Order: sequence, then structure tokens, then C-alpha cells
Amino acid sequence: MQTRLKTIAKRVMGESLYHQLGAAYRRIHSVFRYGVKSRLKLIGIAHLTDKFDEHHSFAGWSYLDIYEKYFERFRNQKVSILEIGVRDGASLRTWKAYFRKGNVYGIDIDPRCKAFEEKRIHIEIGSQDDGDFLANCFGADKRFDIIIDDGSHVNRMTLASFEHLFDRRLNSGGIYIIEDLGCSYEKLQTDHHVLEVWPGMKYNDPGQTFDNDRKDMDDFFLEKIRKLDHRTGNVLSIHFWAMTCIIIKI
Ligand SMILES: C[S@@+](CC[C@H](N)C(=O)[O-])C[C@H]1O[C@@H](n2cnc3c(N)ncnc32)[C@H](O)[C@@H]1O
Repeated sequence: MQTRLKTIAKRVMGESLYHQLGAAYRRIHSVFRYGVKSRLKLIGIAHLTDKFDEHHSFAGWSYLDIYEKYFERFRNQKVSILEIGVRDGASLRTWKAYFRKGNVYGIDIDPRCKAFEEKRIHIEIGSQDDGDFLANCFGADKRFDIIIDDGSHVNRMTLASFEHLFDRRLNSGGIYIIEDLGCSYEKLQTDHHVLEVWPGMKYNDPGQTFDNDRKDMDDFFLEKIRKLDHRTGNVLSIHFWAMTCIIIKI
């Protein structure tokens, strides 16, 4: 019944309006259901990011409530924050408002994202699995205090970004966040048609696979944990929250 109603609503409104109204509903619903327990969430609401909606919350904790615990120490500093995945720029504007002295950097494969540049928001266009691009974006000497991966959510790309960015471009004491880990279990193309449905995904090479095998992420995390237990490597801690993971660099 519910699926039928959704199909009818989509047909009457059109796909785009249907999704916009759905996104607005999820944000409003989250505010009424969970309230506003962090300054970062309040700022996120004002900038209409989806990082606090019901798809990005669990047990009353949205991504923004979690991140504020880690971001607070940088709040009044000249922080540099890089996010993979810009879409409409809502999250970049949220970081800009929260870090009043900070600079925000975004990368995205979709060339239309360049339009969301503004003062203290810098955007470059390229793919998160392109090593040359990741080595040189915003100048090869540039280092970041916080890196967030909210890009394709395709495991092989998530891992390529980490491999290129964590050692070389994240400052000591910095924070690396991998979002939406629920996707890492999914056959994103076979079951969810992400190349056609998710914004910007069509710019990826369709000849590659977009189906995830969670084992790839498990192997990656287990190797990091193994190193931690042997007191080697440059990871200080890995904190798992629902769907998001926060890795602190030594
Ligand atoms: C979930 S959206 C980002 C949303 C944004 N961070 C926010 O919270 O407002 C994912 C973005 O990843 C981008 N993307 C997809 N494949 C990519 C790739 N290979 N490299 C970089 N960006 C990619 C898409 O174009 C899309 O804009």
C-alpha cells in the first residue's frame, strides 16, 4: 500500500519534487523526534544539510551531534577541512559557519559543484580515486586538519582516498571520517542503480564495479586494529558510531 502511494506521489509530483519534499520531511522529522542537542546540528539545520536527518541519525545521535564532540577543539582555530562530495554545497556551508576562522575545501567529480565556491569555500573537480588529483588538489603542500569522505560510498574509492590522503595530507592529530558505512555492505549498482539515481555518480567510469563487498572494509579496519594492538602505524584510535567512523592520526 505504502509503495503504491509512493509510486503515485512520484508520478503526480515528478521525481525531483518528490525527493525534495522527502528530504525536507526527514529533516523536520528529525528535529521533532530528537531535538537539537548540539550547536553544530543547529547550524546544520540553518544550512539545510542532510547530516542530521533520520537517515543520518541513530538512537538520537545525528552525525552532527557526534562530530561536534571531535570538532569543538578546532572551533576558533584557522582549521582546514576537506570534504569529498559536495553535491549542493550544504555541508560545506555548515562547516564554514561552524569554523568561523576556518577554510573549507570540497572535491567532487561533478563539474557543476564548482558553482558552490564562495569566500572561505574552495572547490576542485576530480575523482576521489585519482591519485594524481588527490596529491595535488589545492596545492601539493596543503594539509588538512579534518577530512570527511562523503563521496561515492563505493568501497574501492573510499579506500583509495584514504590511502592517498591520510598519510600525506592529514595533519598530525587530525581527524579522518568515513561516512555512510551502511553502503559498504550493498551492491550499490545491481540493487540500487546508483549510477542512474544518486547525484553526480554518472560522471564515474561505468566500466568499473559499483557493487560493494563489505569484506574489503573489514580487511582494512582489521589491519588498522592489528597495527594498533602492536603499537605500530600512525592511527591513534578508530571510533565506530552508527554508519560513521572517526579515525584519529598520531
Ligand atoms: C552524498 S553527496 C555529498 C553531499 C554533501 N557532502 C552534503 O552533505 O551536502 C555525494 C557526492 O559525491 C560525488 N561523487 C560521486 N562519485 C565521486 C567520485 N568518484 N569522486 C568525487 N566525488 C564523487 C557526487 O557527485 C555527489 O555530489
